[in-house]
Amino acid sequence: MRKSVQTLAEFEEEATHFTKSLSPQKEGASLITLSGELGAGKTAFTKVVAETLGVTEIVNSPTFVIEKIYMLSDRQLFKRLIHIDAYRLEKGSELAPLGFDESMKDAENLILLEWPEKVADALPVPAHKISITTGSDGSRIISYD
Ligand SMILES: Nc1ncnc2c1ncn2[C@@H]1O[C@H](COP(=O)(O)OP(=O)(O)OP(=O)(O)O)[C@@H](O)[C@H]1O
Ligand SMILES: [Mg+2]
Repeated sequence: MRKSVQTLAEFEEEATHFTKSLSPQKEGASLITLSGELGAGKTAFTKVVAETLGVTEIVNSPTFVIEKIYMLSDRQLFKRLIHIDAYRLEKGSELAPLGFDESMKDAENLILLEWPEKVADALPVPAHKISITTGSDGSRIISYD
């Protein structure tokens, strides 16, 4: 499915709608990959997911820390939101020190991963693959598959 949005507000509305459609899977964590050029809106999308799930902390790009974990309230379907930015990783085995395999086993985890291409050799099949492309006018196309 492809969604074309013109403004940041529309982008955020779409990300909110997407977040509300999520529910935990039986087999393990829900992994969502976010692809797109630098500045496409992968972190912006993650911020909306976090806000929609009640996170009140500031969600910023975890580029320098690679991973950030947000605890969600009891009212949410997921217990944790895990935000990973793989931009600085060179291969999938570099996910191991983050406890990625363990995190993937827990159905209460919602994992959003930017730059999946960097660690493709270690990634299980995601629940959702999101790609964001940018138009010259600031519009975005969000593709889900
Ligand atoms: N229509 C739009 N949709 C999404 N973001 C937009 C839009 N218009 C402007 N922006 C801005 O574009 C920027 C996207 O930056 P963001 O950090 O989310 O990109 P990123 O894909 O995570 O990049 P990186 O690969 O560096 O992590 C934000 O500052 C956001 O406010
Ligand atoms: Mg980012």
